[in-house]
Parts: sequence; structure tokens; C-alpha cells
Amino acid sequence: MATPAERYSASRDRQSDPELAIFRGLYDFDFDPFQVDACRALSAGRGVLVAAPTGSGKTVVGEFAVHLALAQGRKCFYTTPIKALSNQKYADLVRRYDSATVGLLTGDNSINGDAPVVVMTTEVLRNMLYTGSEALAGLGYVVLDEVHYLADTSRGAVWEEVIIHLPESVLVAALSATVSNAEEFGEWLDQVRGGTTVIVDEHRPVPLWQHVLAGHRLYDLFIDDEHARVNPELLRVAQRDTWIERKAPGRPGRGGHRPRRLSLPYRPDVISRLDNAGLLPVITFIFSRAGCDAAVQQCLRAGLRLTMPEEAEAIQQTAERRTADIPEEDLAVLGYGEWLEGLRRGIAAHHAGMLPAFKEVVEELFAAGLVRAVFATETLSLGINMPARTVVIEKLDKWNGETHANLTAGEYTQLTGRAGRRGIDVEGHAVVLWHPGMDPGAVAGLASTRTYPLNSSFRPSYNMAVNLTGWAGRARASALLESSFAQFQADRGVSGLARQVRKNRQAMAELAATMTCDKGDFAEYADLRALLSERESDLSRARASSRRAEAAKSLSLLRPGDIIRVPGGRRAGLAVVLQRGLHSAPHPDPAAPGGPGPLVLTEGRQVRRLSLADFPMPAEVIDKIKIPGSFSPRSPQHRKDLAASMRNRLNSALPVRGGDPPEPPDRGRAARPPISPPAPPADAAGTEVSELRRRMRKHPCHDCPDREEHARYAERYRRLRRETEAVERRMAGRSHVIARTFDRVCAVLERLGYLAGDTVTPDGQRLAGLYTELDLLAAECMRQRLWDGLNPAELAACVSALSFESRQPDDAHPPRLPKGRVPEALSAMVRTWGELDQLEKDNDLSFLRAPDLGFAWAAYRWARGATLESVLEGSPDLTPGDFVRSVKQLIDLLDQISKAATRAPAAQTDPLEPVSVSAPNASREPPASPGPALFDPAPSDPAPSDPAPSDPAPSDPAPSDPAPSGSSEPSPGPATDGPPPRSLSATARAAIDAMRRGVVAYSAVAD
Ligand SMILES: Nc1ncnc2c1ncn2[C@@H]1O[C@H](COP(=O)(O)OP(=O)(O)OP(=O)(O)O)[C@@H](O)[C@H]1O
Ligand SMILES: [Mg+2]
Repeated sequence: MATPAERYSASRDRQSDPELAIFRGLYDFDFDPFQVDACRALSAGRGVLVAAPTGSGKTVVGEFAVHLALAQGRKCFYTTPIKALSNQKYADLVRRYDSATVGLLTGDNSINGDAPVVVMTTEVLRNMLYTGSEALAGLGYVVLDEVHYLADTSRGAVWEEVIIHLPESVLVAALSATVSNAEEFGEWLDQVRGGTTVIVDEHRPVPLWQHVLAGHRLYDLFIDDEHARVNPELLRVAQRDTWIERKAPGRPGRGGHRPRRLSLPYRPDVISRLDNAGLLPVITFIFSRAGCDAAVQQCLRAGLRLTMPEEAEAIQQTAERRTADIPEEDLAVLGYGEWLEGLRRGIAAHHAGMLPAFKEVVEELFAAGLVRAVFATETLSLGINMPARTVVIEKLDKWNGETHANLTAGEYTQLTGRAGRRGIDVEGHAVVLWHPGMDPGAVAGLASTRTYPLNSSFRPSYNMAVNLTGWAGRARASALLESSFAQFQADRGVSGLARQVRKNRQAMAELAATMTCDKGDFAEYADLRALLSERESDLSRARASSRRAEAAKSLSLLRPGDIIRVPGGRRAGLAVVLQRGLHSAPHPDPAAPGGPGPLVLTEGRQVRRLSLADFPMPAEVIDKIKIPGSFSPRSPQHRKDLAASMRNRLNSALPVRGGDPPEPPDRGRAARPPISPPAPPADAAGTEVSELRRRMRKHPCHDCPDREEHARYAERYRRLRRETEAVERRMAGRSHVIARTFDRVCAVLERLGYLAGDTVTPDGQRLAGLYTELDLLAAECMRQRLWDGLNPAELAACVSALSFESRQPDDAHPPRLPKGRVPEALSAMVRTWGELDQLEKDNDLSFLRAPDLGFAWAAYRWARGATLESVLEGSPDLTPGDFVRSVKQLIDLLDQISKAATRAPAAQTDPLEPVSVSAPNASREPPASPGPALFDPAPSDPAPSDPAPSDPAPSDPAPSDPAPSGSSEPSPGPATDGPPPRSLSATARAAIDAMRRGVVAYSAVAD
């Protein structure tokens, strides 16, 4: 029953906001205050930013935007970052309205795009804005669900583009996870979109309890509601752990009487324990795909069963129905049997390596309460609506591909946000598993910091630059970019810096006043002093370095038999050179550390290698003896004899010379340097120092009795001035940073002929349709016609190098490639990338990663009709999930290429005159060298199943080889006879058609 306050608010709405009243009637729950506030703002014609925790009910606000649009006869676009979320939202809205009112546009799906309400991925809307789509007419509202994606490094820019480019008349409802700088983000929205109400609600509708599971006990993490005091029992567990560790480090207890450290709990035990405590369903986050699979297997081996027989039956039926379209022969390679066995017991993994269809079944069964324990990677925390009663976190660090990184408070919040289902659970639970060395204080820190800042990752891309320029012209484009959140945040930073500069300047003025000297201008005197001390230290550095150079040179000139006196270091004393230093010539840089010096025998009969460190001054040759040819440094007798000869030689020489070091015997070698004192300091520098000293002494302030006190202030003044100048340089770096990057991007595009001033050339128009990360490289490949003459499967292989990115590029072994034209085309692509990379470097940009050849083989074989099993076997690093995702991304890019190729057809039919990157307008030379040996093309690939294009009988006999042209197309190059090669656009289409097969069944739930 509604509270009186709620009843009052509802009746107020009925009078003042009838639409909201009608809308509230559609729900069987009462709205929370934050929902009401947000809806009222929308009714009042304002945009809203709603930042509230996961599962708090933000969708209601988006749905109200839909409602208002329909009531006003306008359109509403509901955007989400993920296709699966769009599908889900579309299904929800069709249930509420009907399929004529609601459409869906995701790239995969295009249903009723002209409907008044269209659910779409944010990218689709961005593309509509650039192409000026007619569907934008009558648009009144745009919902940006999960708007915090704006921080995503690879895709975030799309949200900013949409927010900046949407027509002014459109109201934006932005829905975000809780972020600590919602106000700042809201201020920006207000600035670019006009009136925006910011609604922040940090309250979790279902309270969250935090625990640590150690040994057999579940400890509360905090003992107070404010999350300020960590449970002392838990601290004692930690103390005991440290104590045992110190007592018997690294060794487990033996004999039963020695205390044992608590180890990481056994997974099946954890699940049973939570089951007994009534805390299922549970999601356990394990930050590795293999770890998730292993956990399921552990539970199966332990005989864990979380379902009743009739539930297992229901699960099996759903699973079978939802995977009915997957070909029978694929099931084994997909691990269907094991997957189903886990499901029947209520246990499953959930990660991006799994076939999407399997993942979706897991999500559905989990939501239905049939699957009760899921082991997931953190990808689950993004965008998938799969709440649980309990969330378990196994470890507080995760492997990010390079190192083990600690979980951030933001990530912790995101993960534990899944715990506690609104309307089902009274409370949610987060459980961190105890592991040796764990610090409860650190966990508490993560658990009590609730939010993280939303930071822009916006930067202008090549594609964005041509689109923006075509749409608004260079000058306006630049101005639009200045209004990005990225620049807004940079400016904010600048205003903070400016404050600091003002403060510093004020402090400097005060210092200047204190050091006033009635004898003269003290600041001038202080500058003189500073300059002098700077020059003096320059000079002494120069002296030291010239001494080092001398010493290095003298060492390099030592010859076997030279007797020297080692002046310092641990080897000080007399020695005879056995072997020259390894660097025969002195290092060109006198300041460089010396290389290994000569090998000597010391007076103490030790064989040692000297280094420059032993010679603060040049080495002096005192005398010379002959080293017997048979001398072996390893023989103690030889060492003894040689040391004795050295002493004898010196003894016989010294009395004659009266104790002075003897002159080195002249061996007629002009190269031998005279032993000279260190080189005098550079004369000019020395003169400058004397001159400065003279001026300082003559300065009126020099004789002031308060000189040293003034000098102290002056020193502080100078330090502050240096600091302030550095801050000012940083400020200059930040202002207009986005527009300046845009200018550099445009410079590259002008250089290559994609832009000509405000004009987007035909090449540029093609680039405008390529939204991939490697946009410019794709456009260059098209312009240079690197893909002409390829058949569909070959094209798929080549284009995959742009769409695919290995998860661990470092581990990648040399990729397998099909024979024929692919290796050649790929090396041309890699070469082109190298040229672009250089051009980027010259322009201080770095956007284009290198092409990745890791998917070419799989793409090629899939496009030629190989079975899933054989493709996966041929590419052992590829999981089914990676495979399906990569094929979909490849299809996306081929689609863009196919469309782009028809966008500016003139260039495609022009006589072949491609422009090389390094020399615009020069005709393409055949490559002089075979190109970088980046990979191993097929000739060295012994795989018998390698279907070379010239092989008339592909060894992947699929009943309906969708790429029949694969084995019958003519050779590449300007074929003079034979069938005319099909256009790039048609080839790309054919490749898409060949690859679509099966992918639908693998990814979409069929029903
Ligand atoms: N006022 C309410 N009272 C009760 N239940 C509600 C209320 N508002 C929303 N819900 C329910 O709460 C659940 C979660 O809502 P919703 O999906 O909108 O959350 P969200 O804020 O969008 O979370 P996320 O950040 O995960 O997207 C839904 O099942 C929804 O029906
Ligand atoms: Mg939501």
C-alpha cells in the first residue's frame, strides 16, 4: 500500500502532470522519489541526467521519455551500448506497445526503423546524425542508457558525438551508473544541450551486506552501518595469518599441532555453504575464462547438485529448444554435453569465450532461478541484466594482460552491484573469499568507496574528421569539438591550474617586497648570482666529463705489458695489462659510462678487469714488460712469475729514475698521447664565469649587510617562479587540446587527399563510411586497390586483419595464411600501415594499431564453407565465443567496405592510378623488396587441408560451399582476358553472405 506521501504525490501529478499520472498507472509499483523527480523534469521540457546504482530502476525514466514522445506525436530513440541490451529493450517495449510502434536497429537487426519508437545501438544513432538520415525528422527524445560508456576508450567518443550533434530541439535522458562527478557531467550537458536537471541517487534500493568467507566462517566486513569500522574478528584472522606466515614461512603446518594458514576456500564448498545459508543464486567472479570453466568442472566432479529432478528436466528442455538451430555436428566441438550437464545441476560458466547462444541460455535460466551458481568473468558486469542474491569475488586483483592489477573501488562497486534483486531479495550479499595475505582494511577501502569519476576518452578520429568537415566545415567542426566533454574537463583542469598560477604570482609579489634592498635592484643581483652558480656547475661538469674522456682514452690505449698505477678504487696499486679493453676506441660520448676496461694482473697477483670507475684521472704507463706467450692467467705459478717480473722491472728502473714514475718508452707510435693534466676548461666558459663574478662583486647589493637574508627570499622567489612557469606550460598544453588534435588529423587527411580544405574528396567520402578503429588504413587499402581481384574468401582473410585484434598479441605465433594472393595483399597492407604510422608520427598522432593477422586463416576457411569444428581445430587459440564475435565484427566491417565502395564509384572506375602514401600522386611502384617478413605464408605450412584458391577441390567439402568463386576466380592483376573481376563491393557482399551461415544460430536465441 502506498504511503500517504506517495498518495499525495500521485494526486498532485494527476492535476499538474496528467501524463506522468497515466504513466505511473502502467506499473505495479510506486515510483521512487528520484524516478518521480526525473520524470517531472522531462515533463517540464528539460533534459535529465540520472545517476543511480545498478538495479535501482533508471529504466523507468527512459520509458517515460518513450511515453511522452508518443503522447506528443513525436519520436523517441532509445539507445544502448550493447546489441543484446537493445534486443532486450526492444522486446520489453513491444510487449508494452506493439510491433508497429517500436523498431530495432542494431547493425545485426533492422526492424521497422521508421517506427515512432526505435531502440538502437548508440553507434547507429551517431551514423544517422552524420548522414543526415530522414529518420531524424520529428525526433523529440533520445534516451542514452548506460551513458557512462562515454568513458570507454575505444567507443566512448560515440556518446559525445551524439550529445554534441543532436538537434537542439531534442531532449536527452541520460541514464548512468553512479559516478562521483555526476555534477560535472551534468554541467557539461547543460552547457551543450541547454536545460538539464541532474538527479543523483546513491541509495541502493536493496541493501548490500559485505562479508569475507574465511575458513568455515562468513564474517561481516563491517560492524557498523556507516561502513566505518572493520570487524575486529576479521582483523584477528589477518593477524593470525601473518603470525603463522612469519613463524613457518612458506611451509604448511605439519604434524597437526602446528597452526595452518587459511587457504583459498574450495569452490564447491563455497557454493554449498551459500546454499545452506539460503544465499543462492550466486555469481562468482573469477577473472579468467579458463578459471570459470575449471570451476564448473570442479563442482561437477565434487558431485554438487543445486536442482531438483523436475528442474533439471525444465532446464534441459529450454537448453535444447534454444540451441535447436545449431548444427548437430558442431555440438561436440562446442562442449555441448558438458555444458548441459552443468546446467542440469544448476551450475554454469559465463564469459566471452563461450558461444553467445550458450551464454544467452545461461542468462535466461539464471534469471528464471533455475541456474543457481554462475562463474563469470567481469564482462558480465557490463550491461547484462543478470542480478543475483549474492556476488562472490574470489580475488582482489586481476590479470589485465600485462600485470596483476588491483581491483579498483569502481570495479568493486560495479561487480557487487549485481547483488540483491529488486522486488525479490530483501538484501543482497557480497562475499570476498579469504586468501593468504589478504588485508581486511584494503577490502573495506574498496567496499566503502562507492563511486568513481566519469572521465572523457574522446579524441577526434579520421572518420570523425571527414564526417564533421563534410557536415559542418572545418571551422565549425573545430568549434563543435571544443564543446566536447573532453575539452570541458581539460578546461576545468586548466581553471584549477590558473588558480594555482594566481596564488603563486601573489606569493611571488610578497617575496619580492621582502627582498627589497635599499642599495639596489636585488632581483637583478639574485639573477646574477644564480647565473653564476649555474655556469660554475656547468663548468665543473664539463671538467669532470673532459677528465672522464681523458681517462677513457688513456684506458683504450693501454697495451698488454704496460705497467700502470691504478690510482683509486678497490684495485689501487700497480698492475700489468694482460689484455686490452673491449672497446678499443673511446666512446664518442665522453660522459657515457666506460665499457669494460683492460684485464690486468695486480701486484697482489689477482687477475681483474678494470673499469673507468678506477680512473678518476688518466691511466699512466710507468713502464713496460714482455708477457710470455705461454702466460696463462689461470695458472698461479704464471701469475706469481709475472708479478715478480713486474716488481723486478720497476725495482731496476726506479733507483735510476730517482723514484719518479718513468717516462713511457717511446714505441714510435704517434697515437700514444702525452700524459697531460686534465684538459683546461673551455676558455670561453671560463671567461664568462670570471666576468660574471666581476659583475656580481661590482653590483651595489653585493655589499649590503642584509645580503644573505635577502638572498634566501630571492631563492624562494626563483623556485616559485620556476614552478609557476611549469604550470603555465601545462595550461598551454591543455587549452584547445582537442581542436589542436583535430587540426593534426586534418593535416594528415589533407596530405593524403581525403580532405581539400572544407571539401571532402571522393576518397574522403568513402572514409566517412568506415567506422573501424583502423578507418584510415581501410580507406587507404581501398584507394590503393590492394584488395582488387581477391575472391570473397581472400577478401575476408585480408579485411580480418583490420577488424580482428588478438587478446594477447605477444603470445601469438606466426599466423597461418592461405596460399595465393592473400600473403601478398597482407604484406602490402602491412607496408601501407607502416607508411601511415610514420605519417602519424610526423604529425604527432598515434591512432592506428598494426594489422593483426591472427584471424585471417579462420576467416578464409569459414568463408569457404569449412565446418565450425575444423575451423576451430585449425585455430587452436580461438574459442567459439571469440570466433563468433570476430566473424560478426568482420561482417560489420565488410558491410561498411561494401557500402563505401559504392559511395564514390567514380574513383573505382577511374583508370588505375593509386596514390602512394609517401608520395601523393606518384604512381604505384612495384615493391622493391618482398616486404617485411612478418609472417609465414602457406608454402611452409604443411597443413594438408589448406585450400589454396588454385586448388579446384577444396578439402572442406561443405554441401553448400557458399563461395564457389573461391576456386574458380581468375588470377589477380589487371587480367586481360577471362571473366571481369567483380567489384570490391560485390565481393564484400559475397563474403558476407558466405560467412553469415551459422553465425545467426550461434548467437541469437531462436524462439
Ligand atoms: N520503484 C520501483 N519499485 C520496485 N521495483 C522497481 C522500481 N523501479 C524499478 N524497479 C524494478 O527494479 C529492477 C531494476 O530496474 P532497472 O533495470 O531499471 O535498473 P537500472 O537502474 O536500469 O539498473 P542498471 O544500472 O543495471 O541498468 C527492475 O526489475 C524494475 O522493474
Ligand atoms: Mg538500466
